[in-house]
Amino acid sequence: MIAYYNGQFLESDKIQISPFDRGFQFADGAYEVVRYYPNKFFEFDAHMERLKYSLSQLDISSVNIERFQEIFVELIQKNELFDQSSIGYIQITRGVQFPRRHSPDPVISPTIFMYVEKLSPNKETHANGVTVGLGEDIRWIRCDIKSISLLANILTKKGAVDKGVYEIVWSRNGFITEGTHTNVAFVKNNVVITPPLNSFILAGITRKVVLKLCDELKLQHEERNISVEELNTMDECFLMATTSEITPVVKIASSTFRTGAPGKVTMLLQKEFQKNIHRNKLM
Ligand code: PDD
Repeated sequence: MIAYYNGQFLESDKIQISPFDRGFQFADGAYEVVRYYPNKFFEFDAHMERLKYSLSQLDISSVNIERFQEIFVELIQKNELFDQSSIGYIQITRGVQFPRRHSPDPVISPTIFMYVEKLSPNKETHANGVTVGLGEDIRWIRCDIKSISLLANILTKKGAVDKGVYEIVWSRNGFITEGTHTNVAFVKNNVVITPPLNSFILAGITRKVVLKLCDELKLQHEERNISVEELNTMDECFLMATTSEITPVVKIASSTFRTGAPGKVTMLLQKEFQKNIHRNKLM
């Protein structure tokens, strides 16, 4: 695989990253995952805006984001993924610093790593839905930053895999936040309800597209706090993410949604989301 590392396209196994990189030492960096549907990156500008936000919050400067689309297109070409559904990954760390100190040295320059990987939509989970568990949100309170420090997400996702569920949906102080790698929405009496944007969740790009589709479809939607107790009253649930797209949830912990099958509003949004991908490609 050809990847990009600090200005060069290299075979990924030839890339050497310093053990004194602050990403390796402290998880001091940010990342993005973008989706490539032949032949265009989906919502690329929105992902870059979020990356700029993450970097600004981490006070990492001097990164030339303007070149990233070009680099990704070149990666797609070099890896012959032109006609394949894929993801693009970008990781930016604060850079290499020796001796190891918590306080960042202001003169170091960021490390940039990017690669692309083939990833097909999961037809089975999209059609039949998934089961998810519930858990206490054990993360810090700046979940609006797409930081590479993902230990809480990893431990919780490992718990999900061990339990045989697709995802864990977290709550903080009794209110739903999001999943380990997904945003979450519910449907109640045909109203789409999702937690509001604040520092407890990531401002998902898929979530943003879903809310725009709700407007287009004249589906009522609310961004508001959802208590764990309220879950029993919901008719439908779905997950939203770049990799998961719109994935129906048929069971969350002990609450089986009324039908025990993907809900009809969820499936309508899923269908419109696929149409939107095609529209997006033509723009
Ligand atoms: N996850 N919340 C968290 C904690 C995430 O890690 C992600 C993305 C999302 C959804 O954001 P978006 O729609 O912009 O992808 C929410 C990775 C990239 C994924 O699994 O797709």
